[in-house]
Amino acid sequence: MSRLERWSEGWAEGRTSFHRTYVHKSLLEFQSKLLVKKPSRVLVPLCGKTLDMRWFAEEGHEVVGVEGVLQAVMEFFQEQELPYKESDVPGLKGAKLFENEDKKIKIYLCDFFQFSKDFAGQFDAIWDRGSLVAIDPSLRQQYTDLLLSVLSPGGRILNEVFEYNPEEREPKGPPHCVPEEVIQKLFGERFSIQLLANVDILEHNQFFKDLGLTWTKQNIRIMTLQ
Ligand SMILES: C[S@@+](CC[C@H](N)C(=O)[O-])C[C@H]1O[C@@H](n2cnc3c(N)ncnc32)[C@H](O)[C@@H]1O
Repeated sequence: MSRLERWSEGWAEGRTSFHRTYVHKSLLEFQSKLLVKKPSRVLVPLCGKTLDMRWFAEEGHEVVGVEGVLQAVMEFFQEQELPYKESDVPGLKGAKLFENEDKKIKIYLCDFFQFSKDFAGQFDAIWDRGSLVAIDPSLRQQYTDLLLSVLSPGGRILNEVFEYNPEEREPKGPPHCVPEEVIQKLFGERFSIQLLANVDILEHNQFFKDLGLTWTKQNIRIMTLQ
């Protein structure tokens, strides 16, 4: 079974505890660090059906999500009660583009690793929540190169990752543990990086408690392309 098929199975079986029924608190708290340009073109890689996309659009930005599972895209538009149009993506076989009426919310249904600026243009901002932590560690460099290729000069990434002791869980992810040295290795050369929050969230997070972890840190960073 391919990685995307596994995610698809998770969606079908309702294993979507990553989904929030509210706009992500760190996005609200640190929006001014991310959304420097107004309006911004915002990319949400591995978007699921996050309400954050609707929030970006309501704030006047143009948001582009990329998601590999049709069910997630359908549930987004249905639950948000947003009429949408569906079309093929020239140059990207099998992919679909879903857009709401004013085209402020676009979701590409495709494997993120097929995504490119050739058909979606460049972005001022990227909201990476549940994305870097979700992909297989072997794909991290490819993932970072892709973010780099779609980000405008001076563009920013607001990023949430988790840190825990990987020895305390099997299988090791997702969400995978992404420590400081991995962030530095992936982004350190091209980005200036500021740690905005570094909090132990275990007490309030049933998902990580159920994994049997003894500590889990949520790290939020703003990374600016130099
Ligand atoms: C952990 S969830 C996070 C979703 C969203 N960012 C959020 O905050 O709710 C990861 C999402 O990425 C999708 N996904 C995983 N691998 C993908 C890939 N290679 N390309 C596109 N989507 C992918 C999954 O279907 C899932 O909806």
